[in-house]
Amino acid sequence: MFPTSKIKPPGNGSLFLWMLLLWIPVINAQDSLLNNTYNRPSTSLNGIWNYIVDPYENGFYNYRLEAFEDQEDPGQNAFFTNAKPSSPSDLIEYDFDLADSLLVPGDWNTQKEKLFYYEGSLWYKTSFDHTPANLSNRTFLYFGAANYQADVYLNGQKLGKHIGGFTPFNFEITQILRPRDNFLILKVDNKRVKDGVPTLNTDWWNYGGLTRDVKLIETTATFIGDYFLYLDAANPEKINGYVQLNGPELENHPVRLQIPELSVDTTYFTNKMGRTEVAFTAENIAYWSVEDPKRYQIIFSSREDQLTDQIGFRSISTREDDILLNGEPIFLKGISIHEESPARGGRGNSMEDARQLLSWAKELGCNFVRLAHYPHNEHMVRLADEMGMLVWEENPVYWTISWDNPETYALAANQLTELIARDKNRASVIIWSMANETPASEPRTEFLSKLAALARTKDPSRLISAALEQSAYRGESNVRTIQDDFAKVVDVLSFNQYIGWYDGLPEKAQNISWVIEHNKPVLISEFGGGAKQGFHGDKNTRWTEEYQEYLYEETLKMLSSIKQLRGMSPWILVDFRSPRRMLPKIQDGWNRKGLISDEGKKKKAFFVLQQFYNSKD
Ligand code: GCU
Repeated sequence: MFPTSKIKPPGNGSLFLWMLLLWIPVINAQDSLLNNTYNRPSTSLNGIWNYIVDPYENGFYNYRLEAFEDQEDPGQNAFFTNAKPSSPSDLIEYDFDLADSLLVPGDWNTQKEKLFYYEGSLWYKTSFDHTPANLSNRTFLYFGAANYQADVYLNGQKLGKHIGGFTPFNFEITQILRPRDNFLILKVDNKRVKDGVPTLNTDWWNYGGLTRDVKLIETTATFIGDYFLYLDAANPEKINGYVQLNGPELENHPVRLQIPELSVDTTYFTNKMGRTEVAFTAENIAYWSVEDPKRYQIIFSSREDQLTDQIGFRSISTREDDILLNGEPIFLKGISIHEESPARGGRGNSMEDARQLLSWAKELGCNFVRLAHYPHNEHMVRLADEMGMLVWEENPVYWTISWDNPETYALAANQLTELIARDKNRASVIIWSMANETPASEPRTEFLSKLAALARTKDPSRLISAALEQSAYRGESNVRTIQDDFAKVVDVLSFNQYIGWYDGLPEKAQNISWVIEHNKPVLISEFGGGAKQGFHGDKNTRWTEEYQEYLYEETLKMLSSIKQLRGMSPWILVDFRSPRRMLPKIQDGWNRKGLISDEGKKKKAFFVLQQFYNSKD
């Protein structure tokens, strides 16, 4: 289970934070996350799985609403037992093998018409044979994500549960696995909950299910469980980090680190917790950059295990109101993206989806993407690493979260921890965003500040931000500012503004000025307006492409007056599904602020932004 031994009281952290960290195992009972699974041999469990829709959770609770798994004998009515009649007179009211099927990975909403709006519990089942390549090996079951809560059972035994719809989790199954006829059953429940992260209200489709890859990972008894390598902020020839082993032979275990191209070949020995800090200097490091996304082949070797990765080394920092990549000022020419598949709709999850979305961003002239409003699938950041695209990743602390609930904080902290654990070695990721458009209050600022402290503890090498909200400056509506205590905590001052869409018409932008009283880089994390692709008319007629085009023209002029402006990620690359957008013949369940339609057709505003970016150095 979750090795709490890895959690030590922070030297300077608050006891409250430490106590909260201990909540995490209660909420997410799984093993520590396997790092870099895409570079490990694996057995995919993707494919056709049987499913049972269970809105009354009849497969989880008895009629007294007592959980079967809490009973001495769960009994054959518990779906996770996968019971079969032992005689023709036996009463069993479910049968996975006779049930309908879904493709995994994939949300259920866009696979079955009857599940389009479904929010509730749904059971998945697959069977598989597996014999480890070596009997001393360990086997893990790895999920890229399941939205929103997953209760996982193998061969009738509870492995654990995970809460959070956008981050990976895994369970060790070494002791339960058998060579043949393993049955893997899980209940995925995508009901929105007030104390969840996100909470009840979001402007995106609540895609439920096993939305990302499912696979078996085999490891040696003691293996390289985790590692982190990053360029020292103060010394561009120094690389810091750590390697963490997982297994019985933790202490004084040799760990060899090789970077052939940098003539690095050093062996470290782990402490009794199986961890070794890493620090070394190297000359002539070719830094990862947008123009040249150089990644080095890294080889980690321990007594029994070897794992490779391709890691780029770069520094990202701020100086006054500049953002510095490798010490040089950079303007983040970005676009916001939701995780939807351009090819088939629904949750994106493949390398093909990632390639299409990031190729459109590149064509738009971007060097930066804001992956809103939750961690996207790992293909997006691995491809961004390869392409030289900078990335903002975001924890789904969105709108009106339950700031006063410690369990809600633990959920947010766990999802942020899992995101950082998964992507901390990806050079393309430069910003961890704590939240989006959260109403400023003392409990909210304390909540976000604790998350920011946690992120900085986990990863000292990246910038912290959040999409804040703007307001009138000293009551003067034509002068806007950022009045938010969390603005003091972030490295990059980001905010959303919709002047010309939710706030007047595009021409209003001509009369707005900005007062930013923070000596920090400013990034406009959202602006934009809706347009139905192919609908043309006067530039003041809402939903026409001309309106959106005019809004971009006027907004870009207005924003250019902000002297600290160092980037933007307009809302949004592609139209996306939202149950909040129901204007017939225009929205029909789609948010139409995309520069590209859901059919992949570019709107006129695409070319306004493209021209602006191409004219910027
Ligand atoms: C908000 C929010 C987005 C939303 C957008 C809109 O700023 O951050 O999630 O989709 O506005 O209203 O379209």
